[in-house]
Amino acid sequence: MLNFEETSRPDPVRVLPAYKEHPDLGRDGSIEAQSFERVRAEDKRIINGSADVNQLVPFKYHWAWDKYLAACANHWMPQEVQMARDIALWKDPKGLTEDERRIVKRNLGFFTTADSLAANNIVLGTYRHITAPECRQYLLRQAFEEAIHTHAYQYIVESIGLDEGEIFNMYHEVPSIRAKDEFLLPFIRTLTDPSFHTGTPENDQKLLRSLIVFAAIMEGTFFYVGFSQILAMGRQNKMVGAAEQYQYILRDESMHCNFGIDLINQIKVENPDLWTEPFQEEIVSLIRKGVELECAYADDTMPRGILGLNAPIFKDYVKYIGNRRLQQLGLPVQWAGIQNPFPWMSEMMDLKKEKNFFETRVTEYQTGGALSWD
Ligand SMILES: [Fe+2]
Ligand SMILES: [Fe+2]
Repeated sequence: MLNFEETSRPDPVRVLPAYKEHPDLGRDGSIEAQSFERVRAEDKRIINGSADVNQLVPFKYHWAWDKYLAACANHWMPQEVQMARDIALWKDPKGLTEDERRIVKRNLGFFTTADSLAANNIVLGTYRHITAPECRQYLLRQAFEEAIHTHAYQYIVESIGLDEGEIFNMYHEVPSIRAKDEFLLPFIRTLTDPSFHTGTPENDQKLLRSLIVFAAIMEGTFFYVGFSQILAMGRQNKMVGAAEQYQYILRDESMHCNFGIDLINQIKVENPDLWTEPFQEEIVSLIRKGVELECAYADDTMPRGILGLNAPIFKDYVKYIGNRRLQQLGLPVQWAGIQNPFPWMSEMMDLKKEKNFFETRVTEYQTGGALSWD
């Protein structure tokens, strides 16, 4: 037992009754709520668990721990990527066409704020509703990666000298970007609302719906036209520094999406009553809406063909991605006969094919000269 007498904690007489009156208190890991029994793996649950969230082991969800280790092994920082060729190309009046510049700016306009939304959604929302500590461990790593991504976009904006106000306000000012964010916000608000708690079938479904929107639609669909556009430019030797940053981000994001899908599928296994027919139909229609919004974004960023590519090819890619997300969730595909027009994108996100990734990478994170012991 903790000895409350020797700490500055509140009088236990006032703490313990408050917890008993409000059994939801403490699910976030506050010590007042902890039982003093040893944790058994079989008692762990992804949501509404009662096992102590402060004890990482014994593991139950090995897939979450494995993803945490893989994510740490992929660590990178934006400053390690050389941007000199991008700067020269951007400053050369003949370096890029107006359509290519539009793609770069619209990309950054969406992603600069999308990754902040993602980080806030994890830290202020998802994290406190998940009661499996190995999943929380991955979410902590994911939150840091979202910070690195926001940093990477800011670094590109600063390197090529774009107008910060223009780029960072696109999510207010450009309709196709605003439409994507407005679609997401109600679901993010559910998770981040301080008065929202799981524990009823209705609220557990709300949580599951928001997790699906976040993993399968935001991270799993809304990022993919933007990623493939910049990576297609990189394949044509344009904006190669930005493309390298996007390659690392894509690799991280594909793991975020896969972690989210594993999390969702495990919640389904543990709470089969939540996965009703009407709920499944609702999820299918949400994914259809997400694909529609991403197709509108493809039209808006590519009003004319570019790079030998055009909006219809990107729309096929979005539908292919939409089908893939539906399959991963065990739902019926919606766009029959769609093939992946960009098989090279799969190679870019394949964790095993990193042989060319690090050619320009600085391996030391901090040089001796940067340290001060004064
Ligand atoms: Fe991100
Ligand atoms: Fe992410």
